Amino acid sequence: MACSIVFVGILVTAALSIVVTTLRIGISPQPSTRKARKALLDLAPEKISGSIAELGSGWGGLALALAKRYPQTQVYAYELSFVPYLFSRLRLKLQSQNNLHFVRQDFLSVDLHQTSLLVTYLFPGGMDHIAEQLVPKLQQETILLSNTFALPGYTPQEKVILPDLYRTPVYRYDLKPS
Ligand SMILES: C[S@@+](CC[C@H](N)C(=O)[O-])C[C@H]1O[C@@H](n2cnc3c(N)ncnc32)[C@H](O)[C@@H]1O
Repeated sequence: MACSIVFVGILVTAALSIVVTTLRIGISPQPSTRKARKALLDLAPEKISGSIAELGSGWGGLALALAKRYPQTQVYAYELSFVPYLFSRLRLKLQSQNNLHFVRQDFLSVDLHQTSLLVTYLFPGGMDHIAEQLVPKLQQETILLSNTFALPGYTPQEKVILPDLYRTPVYRYDLKPS
């Protein structure tokens, strides 16, 4: 009985943590669908010179797929929400992937000058922040892949429409330093 109460308490606290963080940040940790993940990986370049950053990695599934696709490349997966971040870390303990690093940090405060591939699935306000705060700081050519949401003020080099109910767009931007 005591065990069940503790278990339910942990579940309720975790759910509350997710809800509060979702309200604060503006987006839940909903993962990309399998079709979207495949489209993102298909749009990614064959070779990458710098590192990869996933901006808002949720439960870590896409970050893991990226790290497996590019075993010689360091993948940094930034996530603010504590429960999905913790889940990703536990997942990594079970499924070791040496080039993958989950970081609990606001990606807007990260130094991306070594990064040549950015991957994201956010919301319109989050894309505004990327366009206004991150893109102007890029110091090398960087590819941005975005599930669903366009980068305001930029023209995508490629746009794929997924064969799903919402005809979800997936974008590739080849960004140059200003
Ligand atoms: C819709 S989920 C996408 C998860 C994963 N990228 C995927 O495609 O499966 C967006 C995630 O971004 C995180 N997020 C949003 N803004 C963030 C920020 N400024 N810094 C770090 N994480 C952020 C949210 O907490 C959420 O878990």
